[in-house]
Amino acid sequence: MNTLEDGAVMVSGASSGFGHRTAQLLAEAGHTVVAVARRGGRLDALSASAERGRILPVTADVRDRDELEKALDGLPDDCPPIVALVNNAGLSRGFGPIQDADPGHWRDMVDTNITGVLNATSLLLPRLIAGGRGHIVNIGSIAARYPYSGGNVYAATKAFVHQLSLSMRTDLAGTGVRVTCIAPGMARTEFALVRYDGDEQRAERLYDGVVPLTADDIAETVVWCLSRPPRVNVNMVEIMPTDQPFGLGFAPRRT
Ligand SMILES: NC(=O)c1ccc[n+]([C@@H]2O[C@H](COP(=O)([O-])OP(=O)(O)OC[C@H]3O[C@@H](n4cnc5c(N)ncnc54)[C@H](OP(=O)(O)O)[C@@H]3O)[C@@H](O)[C@H]2O)c1
Repeated sequence: MNTLEDGAVMVSGASSGFGHRTAQLLAEAGHTVVAVARRGGRLDALSASAERGRILPVTADVRDRDELEKALDGLPDDCPPIVALVNNAGLSRGFGPIQDADPGHWRDMVDTNITGVLNATSLLLPRLIAGGRGHIVNIGSIAARYPYSGGNVYAATKAFVHQLSLSMRTDLAGTGVRVTCIAPGMARTEFALVRYDGDEQRAERLYDGVVPLTADDIAETVVWCLSRPPRVNVNMVEIMPTDQPFGLGFAPRRT
């Protein structure tokens, strides 16, 4: 049986960027999507726009385990069992060297990128294991592997996600639950806007001289990983813009 057959996929961070597009692609393929984020209005619009499949909006903050649990308990009775989780909700705050950083930014990143992933995982794993099948796709980052100045705590939270994914694979062997980590490079979403506190010009400058990835590039990769036959576990996918060598350096344009 295909992992997603007759089951729902929970996507965290579905109000924007990778998560939003992943929810759309899964729904277009006929699946039921449980779409989680804090901005409920956006989730409602996403849900209303689904012409195929079904997108169930769940307004919750992944940092708050009780809130997330309660919101999931409120899913309609006819929601199929959740068989896959895309741990995508995440953010970066600030871009300074570590010695100048704002500890409040660190807390935002640790609470969202680490605790948020653990909260969703701990709530969903028992269901997946009980069903004898499942898939968790964690969104990491190339920042976890290749340092860039100003990346410090964000990169470290994503290194946590990478290592957790490997450890989970070991623990879950034999349960039928698969684990994948996807490490994107620079992509044009609302990510930079959040990092720079809504400063659009600064966010836009980040893409000077580079053709960044799109939300589609990552969403298609997520869907590809989820739709491999159950015998196949894609452990890790690293995907970067052609113009991005490593970290935040860019190749000089020759054309
Ligand atoms: N874009 C890039 O260059 C890039 C590169 C590598 C990795 N990533 C990773 O990719 C993932 C998706 O980012 P993106 O680029 O798509 O950014 P984005 O457009 O800013 O989307 C982030 C999503 O996460 C949600 N989110 C943030 N905090 C949340 C919370 N506490 N509870 C629930 N949802 C929360 C946001 O929704 P609400 O604000 O409505 O809650 C939004 O839907 C993140 O984990 C990010 O670290 C991004």
